[in-house]
Amino acid sequence: MAQQEDIFKKLIAHCKEYGFVFPSSELYDGLGAVYDYGQQGVELKNNIKRYWWESMTLLHKNVVGIDSAIFMHPTIWKASGHVDAFNDPLIDNKDSKKRYRADVLIEEYLAKIEEKIAKETEKAAQRFGDTFDKVQFLTTNSRVKEHQAKWNTVHEHFVQAMKDPNLEELRQIILDCEIACPISGSRNWTDVRQFNLMFSTEMGSTVDGSLKVYLRPETAQGIFVNFLNVQKTGRMKIPFGIAQIGKAFRNEIVARQFIFRMREFEQMEMQFFVRPGEEMSWFNYWKEVRLRWHKAMGLGDAKYRFHDHDKLAHYANAATDIEFAMPFGFKEVEGIHSRTDFDLSQHEKFSGKKVQYFDPEWNKNYTPYVIETSIGVDRCFLSLLAGSYHEEAVSEEGGTRVILKLPPALAPVKLAVLPLVKKDGLAEKAQEVVELFQFDFRCQYDEKDTIGKRYRRQDAIGTPFCITIDHETLLNNSVTVRSRDDMSQERISIPALYDYLSPKLSMKSLLTRI
Ligand code: GAP
Repeated sequence: MAQQEDIFKKLIAHCKEYGFVFPSSELYDGLGAVYDYGQQGVELKNNIKRYWWESMTLLHKNVVGIDSAIFMHPTIWKASGHVDAFNDPLIDNKDSKKRYRADVLIEEYLAKIEEKIAKETEKAAQRFGDTFDKVQFLTTNSRVKEHQAKWNTVHEHFVQAMKDPNLEELRQIILDCEIACPISGSRNWTDVRQFNLMFSTEMGSTVDGSLKVYLRPETAQGIFVNFLNVQKTGRMKIPFGIAQIGKAFRNEIVARQFIFRMREFEQMEMQFFVRPGEEMSWFNYWKEVRLRWHKAMGLGDAKYRFHDHDKLAHYANAATDIEFAMPFGFKEVEGIHSRTDFDLSQHEKFSGKKVQYFDPEWNKNYTPYVIETSIGVDRCFLSLLAGSYHEEAVSEEGGTRVILKLPPALAPVKLAVLPLVKKDGLAEKAQEVVELFQFDFRCQYDEKDTIGKRYRRQDAIGTPFCITIDHETLLNNSVTVRSRDDMSQERISIPALYDYLSPKLSMKSLLTRI
């Protein structure tokens, strides 16, 4: 665990050092849980968005995109339930004056019990070797059974308290479990209160005439309120989907873990409209499609898992998360929700306008059911960085190299063109190669320092290929192509380079793996 925390710290430092992610407003000491993407970060982020967008709108003939405004009529958030129910239960420690999410404190407590069980199991596995029977150990070892019983009791009370919701009960669990404030170490807690996560502002110039508007906490509502516009103008037939990428804002109480939980973030959401009664088969369909999308990035299948929700939101009849093995444990990257007809029905009720679909085959009107896939761009970005960050000892070059083994199609820079030396016309030849590919791949020209140091710089930002221009290039128009992951080198003639590189670097190469 400590090793993982160490890696996470290194990753954050790496993001800053190589221009991926900077703390926002750093000159003014930063702004909590808000981040800026740097020159490499923005390229990686744009590539992730393109990968998602094309997987949705190219690979699914019945999915189209929109781009709705961040500001929307405030009644939309009343209809969606966000004004009344988009709350987190918060609790303050009276001594440290620090504010926490009550549910997170309890979840962390449960995670600690899980860790204890895992440690006991690991120790026993080492002790017994090949004869170790995990199931038997978990069901018979008295310490493990004690931990498990405690976990079961707390978990059961917790799920019920969140479901009701019962704020007093949440506080009672914190007291019963003797959860202490990590800062003050005391158990001097306030009551638990609900805290709405939406940011609001005023629209309009006069106090009387101004309207309280919200910064959207999800992009999904922009899709729901455009359902009829898209269906009618696009002559869309159910089943069909509407995809959207855009910023969302939440006043998160516990904003930690770098870009995992931010106050301003970006979502890629798709609402898929289906016939009532057919939602569960579409839910299963999208679960599989979305998991394949993640796995196609090649970070390792074992790093992903589904986590079905214990507690369903009031509008959902099924929900699961796709979790990724982050350095701080398996965490949600994407949610897949069966949202029933809740949102469209609510907008029909609150707007007073009919929001229904006439099904020509069924010859009747109905409110479509919805399957939602919702992924955070920033969390996907973090999963890519965490999954691709490697440190390797390099014997021939000396020392260690840090590599981002990013999927080549998503790498911020696709090619580095490096003249072995600046003189003898090698620099000019290298510039010619950069120009040759300027419309195809993002290239970086670098002539500074030894070739070894230049390779390392490219490895650190995940550049899949380095092209070295040497004296032989001037003789026979060939270059060496060095691969990032295995450092193998191949001699390729310049006219053959495009055909060699393109299948490895193109978005198509990634999309066809889904
Ligand atoms: N429309 C459904 C919805 O918004 P959600 O589970 O609240 O569902 C969907 O959010 C995804 O948005 C999450 O899986 C996560 O990737 C991302 N997300 C949510 N809150 C976030 C935050 N504070 N910072 C970064 N990403 C966030």
